[in-house]
Amino acid sequence: MKRLVLILPLLALAACNQQGAQAPAAKQAEAPKDGPPPIPPYQLRAEQPSGNRLAAGRDGKAVFEHQCGACHLAGGMGTNLLTKQRLLAGETPDKGMLTNRTDLTPDYVKQVVRTGKNAMPPQTKVDITDAELDSVAAYLGKAK
Ligand code: HEC
Repeated sequence: MKRLVLILPLLALAACNQQGAQAPAAKQAEAPKDGPPPIPPYQLRAEQPSGNRLAAGRDGKAVFEHQCGACHLAGGMGTNLLTKQRLLAGETPDKGMLTNRTDLTPDYVKQVVRTGKNAMPPQTKVDITDAELDSVAAYLGKAK
């Protein structure tokens, strides 16, 4: 029995692997002749806002879209995981977007960014400066 428990996930993994191997060929067949399909918006990293990254008063929305958008804009993996969590908590799917949350405090946002949380990797002061994080925390932290 124990062996079976070990072998079954392996078989499932092997099946996934085969699917993965077939996927690129199938995608190529579907791709339009005149170019690749459009890139989803969350994969196009928003430009970093100009100016002194260490100065207070950064544009929280712009920093968020540049530094967090790949995971936390629509379609990002952070949004996908948080949507599942919010649904399990009995909320509506739109709460998967951090920008739609009203329960986040600025301090909580800063703590998650500096220490990471489950699937979210921590970010250092090089990734996002304290001034930038302050502005993002103020932008997302609607619960005071
Ligand atoms: C590499 C992808 C990635 C990046 C970049 C990222 N996050 Fe996340 N974030 C996640 C994931 C995934 C989760 C869900 C973690 C979990 O619970 O598994 C998450 C969770 C969070 C949470 C917790 C929400 C809750 O309900 O507890 C906050 C707050 C957050 N992120 C803020 C940010 C901010 C602000 C930035 C940018 C400075 C950022 N994240 C950048 C992937 C990312």
